[in-house]
Amino acid sequence: MSIVVNNFEKMNISKIKQSKNKKKLTVITAYDALFAKLFSQASDMILVGDSLNMSFAGEKDTLSATLEQMIYHTKAVCNGAKDAFVITDMPFGTYINKDEALKNCTTVYQQTNASAVKIEGGEDRADIIKHLTSNSIAVMGHIGLMPQYVRSEGGYKVRGKTKEDEEQLIRDAIAVEQAGAFAIVVEGVMSDVAKKITQTVNIPIIGIGAGVDTDGQVLVWSDMLGFFEEFKPKFVRHYLNGAKLVKEAVNQYRDDVQTQRFPSKEEEY
Ligand code: KIV
Ligand code: NA
Repeated sequence: MSIVVNNFEKMNISKIKQSKNKKKLTVITAYDALFAKLFSQASDMILVGDSLNMSFAGEKDTLSATLEQMIYHTKAVCNGAKDAFVITDMPFGTYINKDEALKNCTTVYQQTNASAVKIEGGEDRADIIKHLTSNSIAVMGHIGLMPQYVRSEGGYKVRGKTKEDEEQLIRDAIAVEQAGAFAIVVEGVMSDVAKKITQTVNIPIIGIGAGVDTDGQVLVWSDMLGFFEEFKPKFVRHYLNGAKLVKEAVNQYRDDVQTQRFPSKEEEY
């Protein structure tokens, strides 16, 4: 069975905000022009996630991603998906204070066609987000499990398991909304808490590992297409057995080369 979706609508900040309580938002990450183009019709927003530092650059976490790296990949994604609403993840260390944040986000806006940037942090980063949104930078927040905090937190931990943490997360969401963010990614949060966050703020909450009651979902493309084999987090659904299909295809190619079934007469000059 194949489903062809033809209702692509180019997104902008107002349409994204207006989607709240009307339409669930679909977000996929992309790191290059080829895949961004393939995803563009199906996704309301494309996130150039710093997760690329792990899946594409093979690093152990996202912390060593650089601004140059994010700009390079954002350019590629924007080239591939010309009508997409593209969000660039600001890498670790590029928004340590208001001035650094504005300088680096301005560089992203000047050197790429990104529509927005994403910043990890709640109450602790609200003043930075406020400074960016006051200076015409569109900001998507990111609270809950924040991969850039992995070393300082001592691991990736599901959030919202205690009443205290639940209250912190609600405060984080409110602070980020009041700072002017247009949407918030809520990652790795107990579903009932993610639901409360979604009901508390007026901007769309995009969940990942946060249950079905958020205003939309985001997945890392290489996870959802099954290219990343090392492990499958509980919240990931494989929509394709990418790794298996690719391995079968390249094995077939090798067999054809070895047995001279490739190239054929039709593939010759
Ligand atoms: O880097 C990334 O891909 C992300 C998503 C998981 C939200 O931040
Ligand atoms: Na990220």
